[in-house]
Amino acid sequence: MRIAFVGKGGSGKTTLSGLFARHLARSGAPVVAIDADINQHLGAALGLDEDELREVVPLNTGLAEIKEYLRGDNPRIPSVDAMVKTTPPGSGSRLLRLLGADPVHARHVREVAGVRLMTTGVFTEDDLGVACYHSKLGAVELYLNHLVDGPGEYAVVDMTAGADSFASGLFTRFDMTFLVAEPTRKGVSVYRQYKDHAAEFGVPLAVVGNKVAGEDDRLFLKEHIGEDLLACFGHSDWVRAREQGRHTGDLEPEHRLALGELRIAVDSRTKDWETFQRQAIEFHLRNAHAWANRSTGQDLSAQVDPDFRHGPAALPAHPEPGTHSAPVG
Ligand SMILES: Nc1ncnc2c1ncn2[C@@H]1O[C@H](COP(=O)(O)OP(=O)(O)OP(=O)(O)O)[C@@H](O)[C@H]1O
Ligand SMILES: [Mg+2]
Repeated sequence: MRIAFVGKGGSGKTTLSGLFARHLARSGAPVVAIDADINQHLGAALGLDEDELREVVPLNTGLAEIKEYLRGDNPRIPSVDAMVKTTPPGSGSRLLRLLGADPVHARHVREVAGVRLMTTGVFTEDDLGVACYHSKLGAVELYLNHLVDGPGEYAVVDMTAGADSFASGLFTRFDMTFLVAEPTRKGVSVYRQYKDHAAEFGVPLAVVGNKVAGEDDRLFLKEHIGEDLLACFGHSDWVRAREQGRHTGDLEPEHRLALGELRIAVDSRTKDWETFQRQAIEFHLRNAHAWANRSTGQDLSAQVDPDFRHGPAALPAHPEPGTHSAPVG
């Protein structure tokens, strides 16, 4: 299952992504956490120090290798240069299993607190000025487009703030999107923006209140969000202590309960591989027309394999040696 955390800047996306990933990992589930935000803070939230963070190999430093691996011997993708961030898998492409023993996971995963962290990499001033930030998420999009994840396996993605997440098709690649909202007018205004986009594309969305200080706060959220309000987190002394470099005991029981509610919401989803692949193709075609055909000098709509059915059935019956799932632990 793929889970995105979105919301206003500073609302607590990174904090809750980290807590949720740890919560899942503690139960023994395989968990990949992906930092897909401009400000890369998920590693620190999970407990990596600066030296350890420097050792993580960001996905976007290995983009060419990732493309080379994923295109496999798909005849519709004759070279790495023809593979863009939205190129969907087709017959001959290599699919990924969550934490499979493939070169992508082998190179980019860093384990912390039982969670396997991957990062997109930092963004320099130049990147933000010239290249579009979303192009930096190309590796995440390719990863999710080629991933065959099952129930009980989780990819938790800490997304960028606000409505920026809609600029690419990435927001349609999730089984559940958690919108983190503080009990303020700004907090709920992001929800309204997101809700319309989500409805348009049939994206499952639930709101998680954060920094909810009492009953008035909860009622405020309930009034503005209604049914979509799934759970609320209050101020956590445990989170604050970690921010101060102190590591004390366990997360508060009420916050563990709230994390449990998030998990139930995710686990109650059924995977819809057909919609997923249809949307991947839709965004690929848009992307091809918008810039990618021009930029590659090719007609990228020819990459769409109409006979390809995504999902577990598309995995090879006999995986290549060494590509079975890596043991968790
Ligand atoms: N429930 C909480 N209890 C205590 N502190 C919290 C809680 N949620 C978030 N914080 C603190 O609030 C600050 C902002 O949280 P966080 O970095 O998770 O937000 P964000 O949405 O990821 O921000 P950005 O948009 O900058 O990425 C952090 O210092 C974090 O420790
Ligand atoms: Mg953040």
